[in-house]
Amino acid sequence: MPKFKTVYTCKNCGYTSYQWIGQCPNCNEWNSFVEDVISLKESKKTEFSSSKSNIEPVKLSSVSSSVPPRRVSSGIGEFDRVLGGGFVPGQVVLLAGEPGIGKSTILTEIAKNLKDLKVLYVCGEESVDQIKIRVSRMGYNAENLLVLPETNVDIIVDNIDEKKEIGLVIVDSVQTLFSEELLGSPGSLVQVRGCSQILTNTAKKTNIPIVLVGHVTKGGVVAGPKVLEHIVDTILYLEGDSQHLFRILRTSKNRFGAVSEVGIFEMVDNGIREVKNPSELFLKQRLLKSPGSCVTVVMEGNRPLLFEIQALTVPTSFGYPRRTSSGFSNTRLQVLIAVLEKRAGLSLNNYDVYVNVAGGFKVSEYATDLAVCLAIASSLINKPIKEDVAAFGECGLNGELRQVTYQDKRMEEARKMGYEKIISSDSVKNISEAIKKSLS
Ligand code: TYD
Ligand code: MG
Repeated sequence: MPKFKTVYTCKNCGYTSYQWIGQCPNCNEWNSFVEDVISLKESKKTEFSSSKSNIEPVKLSSVSSSVPPRRVSSGIGEFDRVLGGGFVPGQVVLLAGEPGIGKSTILTEIAKNLKDLKVLYVCGEESVDQIKIRVSRMGYNAENLLVLPETNVDIIVDNIDEKKEIGLVIVDSVQTLFSEELLGSPGSLVQVRGCSQILTNTAKKTNIPIVLVGHVTKGGVVAGPKVLEHIVDTILYLEGDSQHLFRILRTSKNRFGAVSEVGIFEMVDNGIREVKNPSELFLKQRLLKSPGSCVTVVMEGNRPLLFEIQALTVPTSFGYPRRTSSGFSNTRLQVLIAVLEKRAGLSLNNYDVYVNVAGGFKVSEYATDLAVCLAIASSLINKPIKEDVAAFGECGLNGELRQVTYQDKRMEEARKMGYEKIISSDSVKNISEAIKKSLS
């Protein structure tokens, strides 16, 4: 009889402990430990390997490396870019994101684009009717789409068959799956990890790429992508602010491509569209000649993107001045305000300061410091920044401008978008000089 032992696993990073702990010593997350079981008998072997194989080691020199893997394009340029050129046979991709962010929509869009390739859509979450509604909303005839409303992973595996000429399998979502062989209820760590492993084995055996959808919720009970990190080949995150239409697709792990690529998408009425020139779109609604707005260049992976930083300074009506930011670190904002006061002589102690990254994006690079400072200065002095100015650079505590990574790439992108005057550590020494040069 197999013996089981209860352990506690961090659902954020997969760290295990024999005792429940309040804070994970590995990733520092609070309250992230959930009950998990390991089989003492099976844990010495691969827990989920279904059959004994006769596989023998091969001489590496006899393996030809000249043939790159044959990739299947997803039909969406931005998605392919993040994958590293398309799906590789047998690849397992985890598409993670918050509920409602657009995971099912983007995968339906891929199925639509694959046209001649059969796509098996396993829906554990939605009914076939709901999928039908989405498909018709997206103007997709769904000729190549096979829908399987099933959550039992063993039945799903039986349906993933080379003979059916399936080109891609989509499993929506991994949290709904269960296997009778495993303990726990659907969505529990044991089930999510076990079912993903079973599907990964199937992908490798059949050479059919599989996309697993995984929900990540802040403080939710579902197992996070970190737990599946070692099982799948590629982890993609679809991110964005659900109140805005833009979505960014990032990768945190990719066995078949670079992890620094990002794809930009926009939710539209009939699906999700790739954005070929994001910088142009992000700045489309910018009000020219309006004080408190500065364009900056942010690196998303190895891709330079232009964003608009907005600032508003208003006299504090009573007491302590407020400093609020959205999409930018509040602590960093406090530091920059202190630098502006002390090094650029701006008097902000009687002003509330609000900073916003237009479009609902989050920026975390220090390279945006300069644009934040210039937007605040522009709002305070009530003069717009010159139309053809784009600014980036890190501000030191002495008010000096510091170099950031990929300066040339950022400049190139800004010039391409028509910003001729680029303010960076290459053109100015300190923040006062930058303010003088940029205000019109
Ligand atoms: P969905 O793909 O169902 O999210 P997820 O699978 O990540 O939970 O997307 C849900 C949202 O997307 C919903 O608020 C409606 C919106 N949406 C569009 O904007 N356009 C569309 O064509 C579709 C199908 C959905
Ligand atoms: Mg969904």
